[in-house]
Amino acid sequence: MGAIIPPEPRPQAQPVLWKYDELRPLLLEAGRLLTEQEAERRVLILENPGLAGRSQATGSLYAGLQLILPGETARAHRHTASALRFVLEGTGAYTSVDGARATMHPGDFIVTPSWRYHDHGNPGDEPTIWLDGLDVPIVNLFDASFAEHHPQELVPSIEPAGVSLSFSYPYARNREALERLRHGAVHPAHGIKVPYVGPDGRSPMPTIAAFLQLLPNGFAGTTMRQTDASVYVGVEGHGRAHVGDHTFDWGPRDVFVAPAWMPVRHDASSGDAVLFSFSDRPAQQALGLWRERAEEGGRALEGPRSVEGGL
Ligand SMILES: [Fe+2]
Repeated sequence: MGAIIPPEPRPQAQPVLWKYDELRPLLLEAGRLLTEQEAERRVLILENPGLAGRSQATGSLYAGLQLILPGETARAHRHTASALRFVLEGTGAYTSVDGARATMHPGDFIVTPSWRYHDHGNPGDEPTIWLDGLDVPIVNLFDASFAEHHPQELVPSIEPAGVSLSFSYPYARNREALERLRHGAVHPAHGIKVPYVGPDGRSPMPTIAAFLQLLPNGFAGTTMRQTDASVYVGVEGHGRAHVGDHTFDWGPRDVFVAPAWMPVRHDASSGDAVLFSFSDRPAQQALGLWRERAEEGGRALEGPRSVEGGL
């Protein structure tokens, strides 16, 4: 029985760090070898070595780096999978959702909700690279995937009614919010970690939560386990993440994975550090599965805590 109902999570996904300096030349080489038109989306898939052949970063989520070169467009399509973009490099490209365009700047977080037409374009003069996060493995677990092209190459552009688009979260605004929280309570394990919320106050996607996290200079975090595996990307500064028995020294734009229920500990010893991350937490919470446990020296400080706000 233990093989199919283990007493604790046994993720196949492994802790892994991808250094941006190693990924970037590969992605630019892909840019020389094929056009966005040929690829539809030109993406370097970040496949977890524990999930070989499955195009997954974690047991439930997909991650990839997407490149769009100056003058390129990526044709309009829609799918039941939800997607997020976190911009790593370049200014001037845009993502359009149902024809409303959000201009991309480094650090911006953009959501493409399920079954909404989206296309991308880069009218600027520098390559733009972003991190994609999708719930493809969850959608496929349910065999609920649909996808189709828009009848036109690009969805006709509509002028946004205001500067604030419901699917775009500009970095400057969110970084400011973190700064305001600096003098409040700093969580012993997470530092200052704030979830992005949609206009309805809930997670911007039903399956994926995203967070911006400030580790103040000198932060030495306590150890926490959570049932949601996380994909992290460095935004500012440098930090060290201890994930299971791996130690990852990360800098801006480096991506790393903390698999489900593995002990995770964060340090920032050379100045403030900022991380973006995403996970399947809202899906687990909706199903009553999410748990976390604080630890010290491998010993549980408290029993598993289940759904936030449910106690
Ligand atoms: Fe897409």
